[in-house]
Amino acid sequence: MSAKTGTIRIGEKTVDMPVRSGTIGPDVVDIGKLYGATGAFTYDPGFLSTAACESKITYIDGDEGVLLHRGYAIEELASQGDFLETCYLLLYGELPTAAQKSDFDYRVTRHTMVHDQMSRFFQGFRRDAHPMAVMVGAVGALAAFYHDSTDITDPTQRMIASMRMIAKMPTLAAMAYKYNVGQPFVYPKNDLDYASNFLRMCFAVPCEDYKINPVIARALDRIFILHADHEQNASTSTVRLAGSTGANPFACIAAGIAALWGPAHGGANEICLQMLAEIGTVDRIPQFIARAKDKNDPFKLMGFGHRVYKNFDPRAKIMHKTCHEVLKELGIKDDPLLDVAMELEKIALNDEYFIERKLYPNVDFYSGITLKAIGFPTSMFTVLFAVARTVGWIAQWKEMIEDPNQKIGRPRQLYTGQPARKYVETAKR
Ligand code: CMC
Repeated sequence: MSAKTGTIRIGEKTVDMPVRSGTIGPDVVDIGKLYGATGAFTYDPGFLSTAACESKITYIDGDEGVLLHRGYAIEELASQGDFLETCYLLLYGELPTAAQKSDFDYRVTRHTMVHDQMSRFFQGFRRDAHPMAVMVGAVGALAAFYHDSTDITDPTQRMIASMRMIAKMPTLAAMAYKYNVGQPFVYPKNDLDYASNFLRMCFAVPCEDYKINPVIARALDRIFILHADHEQNASTSTVRLAGSTGANPFACIAAGIAALWGPAHGGANEICLQMLAEIGTVDRIPQFIARAKDKNDPFKLMGFGHRVYKNFDPRAKIMHKTCHEVLKELGIKDDPLLDVAMELEKIALNDEYFIERKLYPNVDFYSGITLKAIGFPTSMFTVLFAVARTVGWIAQWKEMIEDPNQKIGRPRQLYTGQPARKYVETAKR
């Protein structure tokens, strides 16, 4: 029994509920017994005040702009480590030793190829299919190709499925891109690091190999680190909810990809670039700012604001720097889209409406510009987010499956429909 309690009174009924403290962050009131004691549910659409699970993986302090993975600051992970190190950390809870790291890299690398029949599966999609649509289908289909790692009660199978998804996601993402542009698939090359391999699978063609630019590869690796996990966001909660039913891991990650696709979540990086293109020139920015402030206009400045960060998004700070490194490396100076982005950032940061509501550019604002400069079409932006987030989804899924107190997720509701009424025969209606 925890020392602190919270008391809720509903009508004549009073119930004391334990208050639990985490290692850091707000306390939570454990309301599990509320319904039994009072007959009332809690109501919190959008989970503004509700912790849906206990977790040891990622911590965010939105007011202070802090993001920690297993206790390590995102700034340190992004500046000192590589993506696969962050994957190891998220999955196993500790940073790897040199031997553990090389063993992990080796294991991931040896799973990069996909079953050859997958390529025929791709042929079923229209050429102009959105690559996120292809990814939802292709990742879900992995369950049909890798039966030997779908038994979630077997820890070895769980780990093999995890490795397979981290390793195969870039291969599938690159295939989705190649299919869309009408070029042949490029197989993974296992002597390359994760980001370089992905760049090569996307941009090499059989008649001309792709020369990897280390600055670009490092920038992409950093984008992957920054997007690796983000606590209980919409897509991660989707993965947990799907996983709580006992569904296989490939199906759960496909569900996560579907949830990520929306413009309020991972789809923001694509929509943000579309918005910059729609604005077009710097002189048109004020009219879009006016629209963003207009309560009667549904328009929002994409790439601005965050549900949790009400101070600067720490990932955005790192991404801002990376973005400028990439633009400098590629010698991009006179891009009208970039002029709009930079001016928009300046205006919004100094505008009372945005200051009052603590609306800062988020990670997707800068990652979109960076990915465009690297050469990815906007339709691939959310796919890259999904590649990076796969490890976070898997780590959270594994944590849930391995929790002895895990239950199927089953929210309740406030019913406001018709009360019980009698069926009326068609002729009498
Ligand atoms: N442009 C203009 N006004 C905004 C924006 C925006 N981008 N975001 C929020 N507001 C206003 C909103 O209208 C409200 O104003 P008021 O108090 O006058 O009614 C106030 O700010 C608070 O907004 P909210 O809707 O309560 O905030 P939320 O926490 O529910 O929404 C959000 C967070 C990310 C969905 C939202 O800021 C948004 O839609 N941003 C644009 C989409 C985007 O960039 N999403 C990517 C998030 S980062 C990647 C990820 O982690 O998925």
